[in-house]
Amino acid sequence: MSKLTVCGPNILCGSVAISGSKNAALPILISTLLLNGESKIANVPELTDIVTTIRLLRSLGLKAEFSNHVVHVWGTRDIRHIAPYELITNMRASFLVSGPILARVGFAKVPYPGGCAIGSRPVDIHLKGFRAFGIDIRVEHGFVILKSDGPIRGSRYNLEFPSVGATENLMMMASLAQGVSILKNVAREPEIEDLANFLNQAGAKIEGAGTDTLRIEGVNQLNAIEYTVIPDRIEAATFLCVAAITRGDVILEQVNVEHIQDIIQILMRVGFKLTIMDPRTVRIQTDGKALKGVTVKTEPFPGFSTDNQAILMAVLALINQKKSVMIENIFENRYMHVMELKRMGAMIDVTGSKATIHGVDHLSGTAVKMMDLRGGAALLLAALAADGETILYNIHHIQRGYDHIVRKLRLLGAKVE
Ligand code: EPZ
Repeated sequence: MSKLTVCGPNILCGSVAISGSKNAALPILISTLLLNGESKIANVPELTDIVTTIRLLRSLGLKAEFSNHVVHVWGTRDIRHIAPYELITNMRASFLVSGPILARVGFAKVPYPGGCAIGSRPVDIHLKGFRAFGIDIRVEHGFVILKSDGPIRGSRYNLEFPSVGATENLMMMASLAQGVSILKNVAREPEIEDLANFLNQAGAKIEGAGTDTLRIEGVNQLNAIEYTVIPDRIEAATFLCVAAITRGDVILEQVNVEHIQDIIQILMRVGFKLTIMDPRTVRIQTDGKALKGVTVKTEPFPGFSTDNQAILMAVLALINQKKSVMIENIFENRYMHVMELKRMGAMIDVTGSKATIHGVDHLSGTAVKMMDLRGGAALLLAALAADGETILYNIHHIQRGYDHIVRKLRLLGAKVE
C-alpha cells in the first residue's frame, strides 16, 4: 500500500502555482477522437487519470504523446470502436468515448462503467440522451452496445439532471450530427465551457456553454488545433483549504478566480481573509478574526461544488466550539472521509446526506486510509494540522487527481514524506 507520512501541526506559507484542470483535460483529450490532424493541448496536469486517458486513446487507434504538461494527439480516420475493459473500469470518465466513437464510426461497444467509491453513479442519463438521437442501445455481458442506424441526426433532449458527463458525451456526439441539436438542463460547470471552446476552435458550432441550454449545429468535420486547458478549480480550492486549516498565509497563482467563487465566499463567511490580487491570483490569510461555523449544501455549478465538500469539512472540523452543517446533494455516498476524520478526533455526525460538524480544538495524528480522491485530500489536510504523525494509506487516490501535490505542499513548509 502506497503511503504518506505527515508531521504536524505546521503553518503553511508561500505561493503555489495551480495546475491545469483534470476535469477539463479529460473530456478535451477524449474529444480528439472527433478531430483530424495533430492536436497540441497544453497545461495538462501530470496525474494518473491523464495517463489512463492517453492509454485509452492509443487503444482506440490514436497516436498520443505526453510530456512536460503538453499532450500531442494525432487524429485518425480508422478509430477502433471497442473500448478496453481494464481502462474503463478504473476511470469512470472513460465512458465519454461513447459519444465521439458513435459520431465517427456509428457503432460503439463500451464496458458498462462500474460504480465507484462515491456511489453507484449510473450512466442512465447518457443512455437516454443517446436514445433521443435514435441510437439503439443494448447492454450485454457488461458491455453497452451502441448503434446508430445511418447518420446521426440533430435532436432535442432535456436532461433530467444536469449531469456533467452526460452533457459532455452528448455535446461531442451532436457536434458532428446532421442538423441542429438542442440540449436542455445541461451542466454549467467551467469544464463544459472549456470543452465547448476547444471544439468550437476546431470548427464546431456550439452555443450556450455555461448556461442551461446548448444549441449545437452539426458540422462535417473538425480539425485539430492548439489549446491550453483552464486551471483546476478543485486543486485551487484544496490549496485554499490547506492554508485555512493550518492558519497559514498562501498565495495561489495561475487560477481563474471566477471559477472558485463558491469556496472563496464560504471561507470569507467562516472568517478567513481572502484577497483577489488579480483575475489569476488569490491570497488567503488568517487575520485573528473569530472564525464561525457555516451551513453549506452542494449543488450543480455555480452552486457549492460537491468536489469541495470533503476538503471544506476538514477545515470546519477544526473551528473550535463552532457547529457547521453540510448537505451533500449530488452523490449518495460521499462521506467516507468522515470515519477517518473521527479517528483523528473530529466530532462529526452523519445522517443521510447531512453531516453535522462540531469543531474541536485539535486533531491528533494516527494511521488513516484514503477511500476516494477528494476524501483523501481532506485527510491530507487534516494531517497537516494534526498534532504528531499521521500515516496516510492508499495515496493512489490523490495521485489520480492532484499534480505533484507533495512537492507543492513541501514548498509551503509541510513536513510530508
Ligand atoms: C464529474 O463527474 C466530475 N468528474 C466529478 O469530479 C464531479 O464530482 C461531478 O462531475 C459533479 O460535478 C469529471 O469531470 C471527470 P455527474 P460525473 O454525471 O460526470 C448522477 C473529481 O473528484 N448521474 O454530474 O460522473 C451521478 O450518480 C470527480 O474530480 C446519474 O444518476 O458527474 C451523481 O450522483 C469526482 N445518471 C450525479 O448524477 C447519469 O447518467 C452527478 O454526476 C449520470 C450521473
